Amino acid sequence: MDDFIAGLPKAELHLHIEGTLEPELAFQLSEKNGIAIPFQSVDEMRAAYNFKDLQSFLDLYYASISVVLTEEDFHDLTMAYLKKAASQNVRHTEIFFDPQSHTDRNIPFETALNGITAALKQAQTELGISSHLILSFLRHLSEESAIQTLQQAIPFREQIIAVGLDSSELGHPPSKFVNVFAEARRQGFRVVCHAGEEGPPEYITEALDLLQAERIDHGVRCMEDAALVERLIEEQIPLTVCPLSNIRLCVFETMTEHSLKRMLDAGLVVSVNSDDPPYFGGYVNENFLAVQEAFDLSRDQLVKLARNSFESAFLTEEEKQKLI
Ligand code: HPA
Ligand code: ZN
Repeated sequence: MDDFIAGLPKAELHLHIEGTLEPELAFQLSEKNGIAIPFQSVDEMRAAYNFKDLQSFLDLYYASISVVLTEEDFHDLTMAYLKKAASQNVRHTEIFFDPQSHTDRNIPFETALNGITAALKQAQTELGISSHLILSFLRHLSEESAIQTLQQAIPFREQIIAVGLDSSELGHPPSKFVNVFAEARRQGFRVVCHAGEEGPPEYITEALDLLQAERIDHGVRCMEDAALVERLIEEQIPLTVCPLSNIRLCVFETMTEHSLKRMLDAGLVVSVNSDDPPYFGGYVNENFLAVQEAFDLSRDQLVKLARNSFESAFLTEEEKQKLI
C-alpha cells in the first residue's frame, strides 16, 4: 500500500508554509541570522513537538518562525516544502501564509510574499508542481489588523487566489471577521476558513453563512451536527482534513476514533492534507498511510480521497484533467 499511496497523483490544499520549517533549516537560519532558538539540538527541538492542544502548538509555531527573516529565507523554506511535496507525487498545492506573523515582527509584507512566490514559480518550472497562494488572517488578532493586512495584499492581488482564517479557534468565531471577508470577496479573492477543528459545528455554519467560505479547513467536528453534514453534502463543500495534525493536537485520541472514515462514508468531499508536517510527524503520504492503516482503506477509497483533492482545488476542469 505504501507504493500505491506514493504513486497516487495528489493535490495538497491545507498546508501552512510557516509550519513546514524543519528543525535542520531552523538551526541553519538561526546561525545565519543570529537569532537564538531555545533548543540545543535538532533532536531536542523535535522532542518538543509534543502538544496538548492547538494553542500549545501555535506557541511553538510562532516562536520558531522568528529565524526566517529575508526574502531568500522565505524562498528556501518554500522550496524545501515543494521539493518534498513533488517527491510524494503532489502535483498541485494551495499554500497558506500568515503575513501578520511576519509584519508583526517588522518584516515587510512583500519580503515574505516575494520569497514565497519566487519559489512557487521556480518549482513550477523545475519540478512541474503548480501552486496557488492563500493569505490567512490570524483570528486571535483584531478584525482591524486583518483589514490592514488585506490592504497590504491589494497590490499583489494577482499572486494570491484566496483568503483564509487560522490560529486560535475557540473564542474567535468567523463572525468576528464578517467585514474583512466581505471586502476580500469584493476584491475578487476566493474564500476558505479553518472551522470545526477545536471549535464547534456552529463555527462551520458561520464560515458558510457569514464569510461565504467555499471550502472548510479541518471541519472534522461537523459530524456532531447531522443537519450540517447534510448541507455540506448537498452543497458539495470540500473539507481539507489533516489526520496526523488532529491526533497530535488531541482533537481525537487515536486515529481509529478520527471522523475521516465516517466523513468519507457519508459522502462528504474530504481530502487528506498535512497542515504543518514536521510538527505533526508527516507529509501528505504519511497522512494517507496513517488513515489507511487505521481504517484498512481500500485502493478505491484512497483513489477517492486523492481525486477529491483535485476536485476541491481552485482549478478549472481543464487544469484538473492535465494534473491527474
Ligand atoms: N489550525 C489553526 N491554526 C493553524 C493551523 C491549524 O491547523 N496550522 C497553523 N496555524
Ligand atoms: Zn491548518
